[in-house]
Amino acid sequence: MDIKIGIGFDAHKLVENRKLLLCGVEFDCPLGLLGHSDADVALHAVTDAILGAAGAGDIGQWFPDNDPAFKDADSGKLLQSVMASEELAPYTIGNLDLVIICQQPKILPMVPAMKENLAKLLKTTPDRISIKGKTTEGLGFTGKKEGIAAQAAVILCLCRDCR
Ligand code: CDP
Ligand code: ZN
Repeated sequence: MDIKIGIGFDAHKLVENRKLLLCGVEFDCPLGLLGHSDADVALHAVTDAILGAAGAGDIGQWFPDNDPAFKDADSGKLLQSVMASEELAPYTIGNLDLVIICQQPKILPMVPAMKENLAKLLKTTPDRISIKGKTTEGLGFTGKKEGIAAQAAVILCLCRDCR
């Protein structure tokens, strides 16, 4: 068995008049995340964890945020293109653990929908994915609802049995 571990982190600012997408699932929330792409902070952390495990750089190198091609880009499509790349082709997802850090909205009720969508994007099954919400008890930019942060850890498997 050959495995590779990766971690990813991201944070985006919460503003008015933007959709809130987390793992490609739209949340009913008065504020949304600001970014060049759709600003799906959870998918960005996941993408960086996967790229890190494969030793393939980071999301900003793959999809520069000053490139008009990625304006309002669907982060799910970006992740799918990473998964379909030559760099990721040898791997399958061993497991993935994701923490979304925000005071609001509540993550827990949306976890099943998020897992299902993420599993599709990663060509894996929801049982290999864990998603957790966490507040910072009112502290810092996440606690003050100025932004949302996300952290992800992933194991990529090279073993044939996993495919
Ligand atoms: O109790 P503890 O400080 O560890 O956690 P918390 O941040 O107060 O969150 C309590 C519970 O609410 C967590 O176990 C999560 O399941 C849930 N939660 C959530 O669904 N969405 C958030 N944005 C934050 C927390
Ligand atoms: Zn991002």
